[in-house]
Amino acid sequence: MSPVITIDGPGGAGKGTVSRLTADALGFHILDSGAIYRALALAALRRGTDLEDTEALCALARGLDLSFRHAQEGVAPILDGTDVSGELRTEAVGGAASRVAALSPVRTALLERQRDFRQDPGLVGDGRDLGTVVFPDAPLKIFLDASPEERARRRFLQQQAAGREQPLEDILREIRERDDRDRNRPVAPLKPAADAVVVDTTCLTAREAAAVVLAIARERGIGR
Ligand code: DC
Repeated sequence: MSPVITIDGPGGAGKGTVSRLTADALGFHILDSGAIYRALALAALRRGTDLEDTEALCALARGLDLSFRHAQEGVAPILDGTDVSGELRTEAVGGAASRVAALSPVRTALLERQRDFRQDPGLVGDGRDLGTVVFPDAPLKIFLDASPEERARRRFLQQQAAGREQPLEDILREIRERDDRDRNRPVAPLKPAADAVVVDTTCLTAREAAAVVLAIARERGIGR
């Protein structure tokens, strides 16, 4: 089995950037599992599918026309033939993703799609339950965390750079609401795996956090 490094944690903790830096350093593949939930949510929104209609969402999940193409910054999600990188990052899609992700049959429908990313020479995957549910046998599990205020500040700067302005307090409220839903859902709640290493990034740059992950990977003999 190819090695997997799982990087779970709440939104804005730096999972995406830390995963990309770690995968680049090791020459590993990358799985952005949040993008899969976001793509499903976007597909549902586009089709007008009721976000509580579990059966319709499962059917959509099973037939989801989603692939990832190598891009300058990591990988770009391609949904129904078009690059949806920008659309997936909006708060509307993030909120809808969090709702569809709370449905157990939907998560099951997306499980194999995620496990298929495990290929030689190895995988770095980020999400909420990669260490607890998707890859419970991963040889290295990281849980990245940061204070809600710092995560809101990062989202704010990200959005500003993308030309979208949203008041900081709105972002902070949305982050808290989403955290609450992700942590308290009965199925695959956001929590560190029992054998995860918790890394708090409130005072770390993404490079510093990736250096911590790489040091532990080296210690455990993972990668080159
Ligand atoms: O990491 P993200 O913000 O792109 O994730 C979007 C939503 O998808 C998030 O609210 C929770 C959900 N998600 C999940 O439930 N399990 C995962 N492995 C990844 C994301």
